Amino acid sequence: MIKEGELYFPTKEFQKKAWVKNAKIYKEAEKDPVKFWENLAAQLFWFEKWEKPFVHQPPYFQWFVNGKINITSNIFEKNLQGWENIKNKAALIWEPEPIEQSVKILTYEELFKKVCCLANGLKKLGVKKGDRVGIYLPMISEAIISILACARIGVVHAVVFSAFSSAALKARLVTNEAKILITADGYYRRGQIVNLKQNADEGIKETKIEKVIVVKRAENEINWNSEKDVWYEDLIRNESEQCEAKIMDSEDLLFLLATSGSTGSPKQVMHTCGGYTIQTYWTGKWIFDFHKNDIFWCTSDPGWVTGHTYTIYSPLLNGITTLMFEGAPDWPEPDRWAQIIEKHKITIFYTAPTAIRMFEKYGADVIKKYKFATLRLLGSVGEPIDESAWLWYFREVGKERCPIVDTWWQTETGGILITSLPGIGPFKPAFTGLPFPGVKIDILENNLVILPPFSPGMFRGIYKNPQKYLETYWSQTKKNVYFTSDVAHKNEQGLIRIIGRVDDVIKVAGHRLTTGELEAAINLHSEIIESAAIGIPDEIKGEAPVVFVVYRGEKTHDEIKKEVIAQIKKEIGPIALPKEIYIIKDLPKTRSGKIMRRILKKLLVKEELGDLSTLRNPEIVEEIRKIIKL
Ligand code: PRX
Repeated sequence: MIKEGELYFPTKEFQKKAWVKNAKIYKEAEKDPVKFWENLAAQLFWFEKWEKPFVHQPPYFQWFVNGKINITSNIFEKNLQGWENIKNKAALIWEPEPIEQSVKILTYEELFKKVCCLANGLKKLGVKKGDRVGIYLPMISEAIISILACARIGVVHAVVFSAFSSAALKARLVTNEAKILITADGYYRRGQIVNLKQNADEGIKETKIEKVIVVKRAENEINWNSEKDVWYEDLIRNESEQCEAKIMDSEDLLFLLATSGSTGSPKQVMHTCGGYTIQTYWTGKWIFDFHKNDIFWCTSDPGWVTGHTYTIYSPLLNGITTLMFEGAPDWPEPDRWAQIIEKHKITIFYTAPTAIRMFEKYGADVIKKYKFATLRLLGSVGEPIDESAWLWYFREVGKERCPIVDTWWQTETGGILITSLPGIGPFKPAFTGLPFPGVKIDILENNLVILPPFSPGMFRGIYKNPQKYLETYWSQTKKNVYFTSDVAHKNEQGLIRIIGRVDDVIKVAGHRLTTGELEAAINLHSEIIESAAIGIPDEIKGEAPVVFVVYRGEKTHDEIKKEVIAQIKKEIGPIALPKEIYIIKDLPKTRSGKIMRRILKKLLVKEELGDLSTLRNPEIVEEIRKIIKL
């Protein structure tokens, strides 16, 4: 990499091979973004071309109207690389968590056959275009097969992160009214077997689920309900390895994905077929500079949007090899991730700042022996990356050779919308970079907003909740400006730096959680009066929740804390566990009864409190301060 002041640029060698190397592309795209995306769309396979590229009826918009497409046709038989060129190539390398188990490799043709078998099996169970299928699977190949099988036949996939609790699963299934759930007996996590089927059994109670397809993974003991449960292997055993792709309208639903783990009413964002396919293909190609021999490792679980778009759809649309690792990157040794990069000759590595900070904390000795000679590009996602983690990643993993793309996006945007392009740069630690060509971004009073024509792969609404869509994203400014809820600023070169969220979202290890859902989970405890959750900076996880719990009963603080932990695990899952729990008698409130979370945050980060005269109970502030000091 070439360094100029605080900026880095790709080497001439990297640039020579990069798909995009001339900054003129930004100007060209800006002249007519709709035309720009239209030209990109035209390169993929459509059963029928669209009539209108973009239609805007604020706050709704559509792309490639009346075009007919199927994302799996673009992955398999109509892949732009040519089916004959890719069918015998590895589509997926799967690395199991237990070291002693074997790696599984699926070629494009093998994957295609498995997708078709399951698609046929699903049809036999009676699912039709537009129906929703829940997918509650760990990081195993069947997660990819299930997602693609749904897409093949026009069924809407609704994936639920496998570490979410049964209550969180249920809340999603209730809203999306799925009739089928695909799950597994269990899975490995840090050497333990998690009984996933047990959670699934609990989660489908009082939902519309009629059949549960069970993948055999960990061979643990499970309960079996012969009326509902069917083994995955039995379902596909006699199915044909061919299944016609359903011809989908560009604006038909492709998938639903919730933005939070809330047990109340999780918002499930809607992504559609045409625009998502186009954006997913091109953002991957240009941002990760996918070339035919690349082996890409995106560490995200398919339960998150990054897993959907960049572990699965984008590399496969580009005809390259994607790697999926079942376990935690530091298990059983802190350098497991480094071993995987070397063993599988990973060329592009994409992970979250939390993982980078964790690798850094293990110390340089742990990875001294690795040269990472195959790596040529690195990526970061999910939360702001601070300068020191950026530099460590750059030096110790990229060996000062690999550009780092710090990619900003959201579940709602469906794909990356801000980052420097690797063949152009510049790369500046802690800055994401420039908007992707054809995307108009602005910063209004520090708020990051997206302007029309938005992007083809952005979500089209919240499932069954148009009011929430309007309120959350379109009512802050004008109805034709998308409000991201991120605070950002721009430097002289126009590079964007993301500061953080303005709403109640906290990014815990890159995972999205709202303080509201955490409080709602805790408040379900019958003896707890109320609670307040606050996100505070954390050295490794970026942010971590701290909760204040109002309890006036007889139990000891330790007992209540244990119950709070159990309650959160039950309602959301272990990712939402707080860093600290404080049991208090009251929360600071205004005279109208509003909880002053701002004051709690200031107490935690030891900032000046300012004027407390608006409080109804200022005396509680001192009491809380004493407890925090303990
Ligand atoms: O605050 C931003 C942060 O993650 C939020 C979106 O979270 P989620 O929907 O879970 O999607 C995460 C994966 C795309 C954003 O509003 N965020 C995401 N990427 C970055 C980021 N913050 C800073 N830098 C990033 N590169």
